[in-house]
Amino acid sequence: MKFFLDTADVGEIREGMAMGMVDGVTTNPSLVAKTGKPYAKVIEEICSIVSGPVSAETNSEDAEGMMAEARELAAISPQVNVKIPMTMEGLKAVAAASKANIRTNVTLIFQPLQGLMAAKAGASYVSPFVGRLDDIAHDGMDMVADLKQILRNYNYATEVIVASIRGPLHIQQAALVGVDIATIPFKVLANLAKHPLTNSGIEQFLADHKKIPKG
Ligand code: G3P
Repeated sequence: MKFFLDTADVGEIREGMAMGMVDGVTTNPSLVAKTGKPYAKVIEEICSIVSGPVSAETNSEDAEGMMAEARELAAISPQVNVKIPMTMEGLKAVAAASKANIRTNVTLIFQPLQGLMAAKAGASYVSPFVGRLDDIAHDGMDMVADLKQILRNYNYATEVIVASIRGPLHIQQAALVGVDIATIPFKVLANLAKHPLTNSGIEQFLADHKKIPKG
C-alpha cells in the first residue's frame, strides 16, 4: 500500500520521509492556503524534496480554464498530477488532459459511479473522500470498497487514493479493501506508530535494563 502525505507543509513531509513513509504527496487549495505561499512555489518545493507523485489542484470551474491550469502545473515537474474536481466540466478536462499525456487525480468523489466516470475519462487517480462521508453518517469505506470493485471488474488502471482520512482505522480498512494508496494527514501518520502498550513495554525494558550488571 502506498502512503501519500496529505499536506503542503514541507516540514511534515521531511518528517514523514525520514521514516520512509512518503510515497507521494497530495495538496488542495485549503492545505496550500495555510502555507501563505503561491501554489506553484509550494509544488516546486515539494517536488524538490520528494521523488514520488505530487498532486496539485486546479481552481477553474470550466474545462478550458482547468486544462490551461493543468498545462501550467504539469510543466512544473513530471512528478505533478493535476487534481481536478468531479464535475462534468472536470470530466471534459480529464479527457483532454489524458489525450495530452497529463496525469490527473479526480477529487471530491463521494459515490462509486463518479469514480467510474473519472476512470472512463482517463484519470490516473481517483480520490474518494471517506472522512467527509463519515462526518454525515454515511459509510465512506463502503463507498470505497464498491468503487475499488467496479474498477477491478473492468480492469481500469486508474488508482484509488483514499482521501479525507480521519484516523488509523480508515487506513486499516482501506488496506483490507486493498486500495492502492492512502493519503494521510501527518497527525494521523504520527498516531499510526503509537500504542500505549508499546510505550509501557519500552518503559519496563528501560527500567529492567538498568538492573543488568555492566562489564
Ligand atoms: O486533500 C483531499 C482530502 O484528503 C481532504 O480531506 O480532511 O479536508 O476532508 P479533508
